[in-house]
Amino acid sequence: MSTDIRRGLTGVVVDTTAISTVISETNSLTYGGYAVQDLAASRSWEEVAHLLWHGDLPDATQLADFRAAEAAQRRLDRTGQEVLRKLPETCHPMDVLRTAVSYFGAQDPTEDLADRAANQAKALSLFAKLPTVVALDLRRRRGQDPIPPDPTLGYAENFFHMCFGEVPSADVVRAFETTMILYAEHSFNASTFAARVITSTLSDLYSAVTGAIGALKGPLHGGANEAVMHMLVAIDDPDRVESWLDEALATKQKIMGFGHRVYKNGDSRVPIMQDALDNLIATHADDRVRRLAEVYTRLQTAMFQRKAIHPNLDYPSALAYHVMGFDTPTFTPIFVMSRITGWTAHIVEQLTANVLIRPLSAYTGPQQRPVPA
Ligand code: ACO
Repeated sequence: MSTDIRRGLTGVVVDTTAISTVISETNSLTYGGYAVQDLAASRSWEEVAHLLWHGDLPDATQLADFRAAEAAQRRLDRTGQEVLRKLPETCHPMDVLRTAVSYFGAQDPTEDLADRAANQAKALSLFAKLPTVVALDLRRRRGQDPIPPDPTLGYAENFFHMCFGEVPSADVVRAFETTMILYAEHSFNASTFAARVITSTLSDLYSAVTGAIGALKGPLHGGANEAVMHMLVAIDDPDRVESWLDEALATKQKIMGFGHRVYKNGDSRVPIMQDALDNLIATHADDRVRRLAEVYTRLQTAMFQRKAIHPNLDYPSALAYHVMGFDTPTFTPIFVMSRITGWTAHIVEQLTANVLIRPLSAYTGPQQRPVPA
């Protein structure tokens, strides 16, 4: 038995993938061979989702078909809406999303794992319905009735419409699409790996996605975007940044939105998200947001001076979602709306050459001993 223990699987390559690659040496990320920066600069969110599932960007006909299929599947059935409304408002929106995916799984009796097209159809159905779940839950917590999806609107416009009853200006919609493109896929991150582990037992797609949502919820992973916003609000005063940070580091706290397991010299997704955030702040921020933006900038500088640790994507995304008007607990569910593409692409890929994922452990408990009489 090997005694080379890699805690956290750090540096371990467990399988191949053709979906994306993270190259830490050059701080780059590609989806299907395309640099994520180029995709974010020139392609729609729907085109990138198609790329992740089908390995290539769609032509005009494929894109129109994809958009029509997505728009046609946004509605939740009456029972589904009732199930979600019965959940306590004290539960986290990620729990609502996890329950919703469980419900969709219970509604779908087909479990032909070998059927790639059927799995992609399930993935598209989840992709279409998750925004409806997130919007319904956001409005429920605000004491507002749900707004049904509008099939004449694109994915992003429809999501704003269902949340707020209106579609913001094109630059805000585009900034939102940028977050969706950047969050969509990131190789064998913790939640994707969780989905692949569950899939490797030949469980069903909904179970794998449910497990992935649970993994993403944690603040060391997707939950960091929500945690970043709480942190910025808690610091509140730009002049408090340095003392707050020194205290946090002295007590060994992890600073949310900083650091990364793979990128050690900066997250490849941050510069493009930073540009989008700067544009949002320049055109849509009030005095309160400008103050938080000053906290944000000073914290980034102070963190680099003290620890030489760079921000990850959750850092600029959090403030961007705040400027767009989303409630803080909705940030990680929006991440799910995006990462559902990467997760399901990996589930399908895992099934094409499945092997049960089952690592070993080095035992450190008591030596074998007799059970006392
Ligand atoms: N705040 C303070 N110190 C940190 C941070 C941080 N955010 N990140 C790393 N460090 C420190 C570690 O404590 C460690 O210090 P030590 O050598 O004195 O023990 C050193 O930097 C090196 O840490 P790594 O081994 O590089 O970190 P690891 O790979 O284990 O952790 C992780 C990566 C979990 C993301 C970590 O950076 C972290 O907790 N960040 C905050 C949470 C966060 O933002 N998560 C989002 C990740 S990206 C995403 O999901 C989209």
